Amino acid sequence: MKDASPQAQPETIYLKDYKPFSYTVQQVDLLFRLAANATRVISKIAFAPNPQAEDQAENRRFFLHGEGLKPISLKIDGTPVTPREVPGGIELDAPDAPFTFEAEVEIDPAANTALEGLYMSNGMYCTQCEAEGFRKITYYPDRPDVLAPFDVRIESDLPVLLSNGNPGTSGPGFAEWSDPWPKPAYLFALVAGDLIAHPDTFTTRSGNTVDLNVWVRPGDEGKCAFAMESLKKSMRWDEEVYGREYDLNTFNIVAVDDFNMGAMENKGLNIFNSSAVLASSETSTDANFERIEAIIAHEYFHNWTGNRITCRDWFQLCLKEGLTVFRDAQFTADQRSEPVKRITDVIDLRGRQFREDNGPLAHPVRPDSFVEINNFYTATIYEKGAELIGMLKRLVGDEGYAKALDLYFTRHDGEACTIEDWLTVFEEATGRDLGQFKRWYEQAGTPRLSFTESFNNGTYTLTFKQQTPPTPGQPNKDPRVIPIAVGLLNPNGDEVQPTTMLEMTEAEQSFTFDGLATKPIPSVLRGFSAPVILEHESDTQTRAFLLAHDTDPFNRWQAGRDLAQESLLTMLRDGAGPDNAYLDALLSLLRDDTQDPAFRALALGLPGQDDIAQTLADQGQTPDPQAIWEAFETLKHARAEAFQDVATRLYAQYQVTAPYSPDAEQSGARALANAAMGMINRLDGGALAQKQFDSADNMTQQLAALSALIAVGKGDAAVARFYDQWQADRLVIDKWFSVQITGARPDEAADVAQRLTQHPDFTMKNPNRFRATLGALAMHPAGFHHASGKGYALLADNLIALDPLNPQTTARMCTSFQTWRRYDADRQALIKAQLERLLATPDLSRDTTEMVSRILG
Ligand code: PHE
Ligand code: ZN
Repeated sequence: MKDASPQAQPETIYLKDYKPFSYTVQQVDLLFRLAANATRVISKIAFAPNPQAEDQAENRRFFLHGEGLKPISLKIDGTPVTPREVPGGIELDAPDAPFTFEAEVEIDPAANTALEGLYMSNGMYCTQCEAEGFRKITYYPDRPDVLAPFDVRIESDLPVLLSNGNPGTSGPGFAEWSDPWPKPAYLFALVAGDLIAHPDTFTTRSGNTVDLNVWVRPGDEGKCAFAMESLKKSMRWDEEVYGREYDLNTFNIVAVDDFNMGAMENKGLNIFNSSAVLASSETSTDANFERIEAIIAHEYFHNWTGNRITCRDWFQLCLKEGLTVFRDAQFTADQRSEPVKRITDVIDLRGRQFREDNGPLAHPVRPDSFVEINNFYTATIYEKGAELIGMLKRLVGDEGYAKALDLYFTRHDGEACTIEDWLTVFEEATGRDLGQFKRWYEQAGTPRLSFTESFNNGTYTLTFKQQTPPTPGQPNKDPRVIPIAVGLLNPNGDEVQPTTMLEMTEAEQSFTFDGLATKPIPSVLRGFSAPVILEHESDTQTRAFLLAHDTDPFNRWQAGRDLAQESLLTMLRDGAGPDNAYLDALLSLLRDDTQDPAFRALALGLPGQDDIAQTLADQGQTPDPQAIWEAFETLKHARAEAFQDVATRLYAQYQVTAPYSPDAEQSGARALANAAMGMINRLDGGALAQKQFDSADNMTQQLAALSALIAVGKGDAAVARFYDQWQADRLVIDKWFSVQITGARPDEAADVAQRLTQHPDFTMKNPNRFRATLGALAMHPAGFHHASGKGYALLADNLIALDPLNPQTTARMCTSFQTWRRYDADRQALIKAQLERLLATPDLSRDTTEMVSRILG
């Protein structure tokens, strides 16, 4: 469809330019007459001059966003009006008094492949409005600080018609919905389709009964129960832990196959990527179950942190996202194992956020400018944003945190807020000055923290230094407040100083501990108390000691990880063999059945190959992805040989005989058994993996076996059988695409991915499938960075093809190139050529243009 309004120019938007909108919206009435290629949207919006807007009546501007809309008629107070077309929307002459604006527009949901606005997915209509999609539905002040109650009427012959809020009248061919809670347009949603409900109810603690539904396409109704249970747990948890109750009669969740992100917290009508909601033991892994539980919780928790209290502007995105990620992590820790959750979160933070913070895309948790907001749904906003909340809680204590949150909810309910509002409630609730803490929101980059120790007459001193390297646009960094959790052990392994929170505020600062008989062994940054890189030279012995004795589970795990990393770095640097001290220490841990199987499985994990590349780059060396891959192979092989006996025992011992459950205990056992299988697999040429593949009755075991078979070059038959078994299940076929690529040898990964893009089941239109293929290649460092450059070329070819269809997913996937400056001159030249080719593509989207330009620097 032809764009009726001129395309907005790529323009940088600055936080400092924020101005409230000239008008407020009192009420929104929307009527949708759904038709695949010609949906009519008829709106009636009550506006009034905004007393909060500083500008006076004479320069009041009535601007409405609108993108790709075909206007049929526009009226102000019943009189037809002709708009002035301006970049990004329209301008009208409006009275300096309350008035009604009416518009009828036509849109084409069937042609909408960007999956933003109103679009179609497998015959069903659905919407995605965050961040700026509502302007593709109708003319509106599409900004988060304009809040209004919405009434919606949907006309369509489809059987299920849903929108936000409480259901009103409905009948053949129509349904009405009313959302009493004022909300910004980004929380609007509509769904229409031939859907099946998985129903339930929840009674809130004040006695309201809420109708709950998980809506899916026919055929998926057997995969809803887990999501429903997760929802009910989340609702109860938010009442118990944060005192937050649900506030409507209905809560709907809809599963959609074509979706750019994980899920969306639309008021009363959460829309989910089907991968984040559908679950069954046969088709989903333990990790899938855990992710689904966390995303259901995350979206539900947004009802208070995001919806009832929203963001003033998109610079404040972390206000809702950092806090909600923090809340969902607390929830998961409560449902499962706190240390396991913390460890996996830190692995993820280092793998994605540290990588971002160390490269050309580094930005503050609260950025001060952007071109395309969709490019800022990043690990920094989400995961580092959540770390900042965790630090605040450590600094003010649990009670201070609870007081501050209560004040936040009572003071700001119904408002669109800023980080200043957020920090102020903490300052008022606790009497603490958070001026310095605010730097965490304003300065990008990961602080490097190092320490030295001294011991004198019973006094032990730790001297810390912090330093943050420059990031784009921010050459100089000020010292941050860093909560450093420290414990001390004496040489026989007893804890002589339980965890204390040191508060570092200076660039260099010392802390002393008195009355110690012997020089203690420090356990620093327990629980990963701050998102920093701890740089500390330590001997293998001390690390092995901490792995055996630290009372802090995170730091025990970290000690093992440090040993593995040191061993890999030495292998790469000196061509040495695997470190025996590491192997011995790990072996004793594996043998120790008093240790949680999930913890042992984590301890068996290795750092990411990309983490090693980053560490080498940090140390001023040029990583060679192929050499890194080989070092990992050597180390894994050495472990398999050294751990043969224990692997065989653990494999047998941790087979689950009880009926499948995705709970923490069973998944821990399966994780350890599968890790053992992975080791045995290297020595038995796939015999055990084949047996497991043939007998598996759940996806966790079937997929682990398949990937093991592929790893030893024995996957062909299993790959074919897996496809035959699951070809009707899109989510399982996504796994089938990924596992063949991630398990391929480095020189073959790009060829496998290339071949799979030619498979009849490959489609550019489904983001999950695109990510399962090209994203999987990008996650195989040695395959993606193959010296021939074929990995780079394949990704770029596909990004160029995807961009006109789906700019958001294209731009997001460009981040695979963000680490390019770490590599050798040949690889840099190859990547640069692909990035320049991308940038030179005619009509490249604003999303991708911004991303590639920033990556090129
Ligand atoms: N707000 C969603 C969440 O974090 C993420 C999202 C952003 C989804 C933009 C779609 C588009 O829960
Ligand atoms: Zn969110």
